[in-house]
Amino acid sequence: MRNKIVAGNWKMNTLVNEGVELAKSLNDYFVSNKPPAGIKLVIGVPFTHIDACVREIDYTVISVAAQNCSQFDRGAYTGEVSPEMIKSLGAQYVIIGHSERRQLFGETDEVISQKVALAHKNALFPILCCGETLKERQSGDHFEIVRQQLTDSLKLTDQFNIIRTVIAYEPVWAIGTGKTASPEQAQEMHMFIRKVLSELYSQPIADKISILYGGSVKPENASEIFAQDDIDGGLIGGASLKSEDFINIYKAI
Ligand code: 13P
Repeated sequence: MRNKIVAGNWKMNTLVNEGVELAKSLNDYFVSNKPPAGIKLVIGVPFTHIDACVREIDYTVISVAAQNCSQFDRGAYTGEVSPEMIKSLGAQYVIIGHSERRQLFGETDEVISQKVALAHKNALFPILCCGETLKERQSGDHFEIVRQQLTDSLKLTDQFNIIRTVIAYEPVWAIGTGKTASPEQAQEMHMFIRKVLSELYSQPIADKISILYGGSVKPENASEIFAQDDIDGGLIGGASLKSEDFINIYKAI
């Protein structure tokens, strides 16, 4: 009923030629092993790589995502990249509100809500990230933190656009640490996220939204994570930089 999605987030890794090689090798595999309908593949590449990667791949098989976008349409915003620019290169998705952007670049839910709205306006699919820190989990506040992040980040997103949105739950303590949330911990939060979406919109809408898990997903642990009812795929960091690992994670779905 809802799409399964395996999305890579390359973060600030690879030079353009290396990124193109990686995109090419994924493309070769997936063109000869077409994913069944309802399974989508996405690679989240640095801005500098979007154009070259889009040219290398068959967009009916793999989509390209940017890893961020501006909350502004155009104008005097030195160094920013607008959703319209991203769209004009042929990217189809944009990762928004990653915890690294929240923690290292001071992104707030207010700004994130504007980015999500502008991405929709430019016909990009936002992959909206949420997730708690270790401290927040240890103090038992993780559900409320995630509820607040979703409520505030989606405040400009209506019923029409929410179904063009992907949610990624990425517990900060599991990102790049080798510590994965247990399948039960992840399922518990994904079910909660779907409940929040049903309250903000409706149950039929919540049931249509793909919710991805991110945080130390690897070929070895992907199957048990993806087997959970409310987990519709993954947002993969480190393991998306090796085509073999990314392909094996895809196979797990
Ligand atoms: P890792 O898979 O490297 O833990 O990164 C997860 C992530 O942040 C994806 O956006």
